Amino acid sequence: MTTSSGSLLITGARLADGTSTDLYISDGVLADPASAPAGVERIDADGVLALPGLVDLHTHLRQPGREDAETVASGTAAAARGGYTCVHAMANTDPVTDTAEAAEYVQALGERDGHCQVRVVGAVTRGLGGAELAELGLMAASSAGVRVFSDDGRCVDDSLVMRRALTYVKSFDGVVAQHSQDPRLAGPGACCHESEYSGRLGLPGWPSQAESVIVARDVQLAELTGSRLHVCHVSTAESVDVVRWAKARGIRVTAEVTPHHLLLDTPLVSDYDTTFKVNPPLRTAEHLEAVREGLADGTIDSVGTDHAPHARQDKDHPFDVALPGMLGLEQALAVVVDVMVNTGRMDWPTLVERMSAAPARIGRVVGQGRPLVVGEPANLVLVDPSARGVVDGAASASRARNNPYHGRDLPDPVVATIWKGGVTYRR
Ligand code: NCD
Ligand code: ZN
Repeated sequence: MTTSSGSLLITGARLADGTSTDLYISDGVLADPASAPAGVERIDADGVLALPGLVDLHTHLRQPGREDAETVASGTAAAARGGYTCVHAMANTDPVTDTAEAAEYVQALGERDGHCQVRVVGAVTRGLGGAELAELGLMAASSAGVRVFSDDGRCVDDSLVMRRALTYVKSFDGVVAQHSQDPRLAGPGACCHESEYSGRLGLPGWPSQAESVIVARDVQLAELTGSRLHVCHVSTAESVDVVRWAKARGIRVTAEVTPHHLLLDTPLVSDYDTTFKVNPPLRTAEHLEAVREGLADGTIDSVGTDHAPHARQDKDHPFDVALPGMLGLEQALAVVVDVMVNTGRMDWPTLVERMSAAPARIGRVVGQGRPLVVGEPANLVLVDPSARGVVDGAASASRARNNPYHGRDLPDPVVATIWKGGVTYRR
């Protein structure tokens, strides 16, 4: 679903590498600007960066089942506002996306209602139960063409099930995206980074090792099977070290970090505001530093939003009872610009790699995360690198209001988003 689909000339934009260019879009594809007819619709992009559209590997769209929290339409509208032209819809819906039929249903919803491309994530196990493998092969062969499999929200904690899943998806070049949370070290009640804060606040602790022990096991299973592992929402220094070790060994592992684990820290939960309750929990400064460093040096390949909308009635509870998760799509780019680019830790080409090219490659998405050259699909985002503003969570395109950036002064970079040649968002 796009608001326009004809021809469009974008003049005077700069690419990530600093070169200045005009971009001409015709029939959804980048064409030679010299061939643009006089009188074609124009966007003056003086002072604006043109980047490949962002790609998210970790989006909760909540449809089917929790349309009160988010729908494919509202979630992808939030994605378009955030500069995304492709999102991966996580499988922890109701019903769970664990069959070819369910995957094709979500695929059809994306084609009907999406303001960006919707790629379907299939569950690893039936009903996210952790015991029996879901219809991995049938989902891969379905019209949804599933390549990313995840029980996200739950950890595939049985080592043999994880081994079998890795072995199985290898046959069709799939990837298992793991929510790394040891269910014994961080049980269902764990909700605060285990630290002086969890002790003082009286909240059940979630030690960083509950994440890294699973990452350490899984990279070894990826080595054993020769298959692809993707580590969701890396939040700890120990996990970064394990992934760095695994990559040095040649293990096929990729990793993502969320915008919130780059910016937000444990003390934010001090007044029990459930907006800041998330899995894995917000960590302390030394962990934030480690994930920033990992993202800068490529140990962490990508940024995944873990956009996790929740209805108010699921957040209006005591901290240990409220559902975990926070919004992410609309401010992800702003956070990465603030934390990584404006601090000199990362340049624009690297940001494009982490937020567009790498996630597209990991998800085996065709026509996304591509350089902006003639012949490529016109999936792009126009970015004003200097604009800033105070985030107004009430202005969100999401149905949910659990926005952890509400009231924060952040970059406000997205000027326009273009998907398949159509403008899906314009400020
Ligand atoms: C996610 C959700 O709400 O679905 N919640 C969260 O705290 N991150 C699940 C997940 O990504 O683990
Ligand atoms: Zn998760």
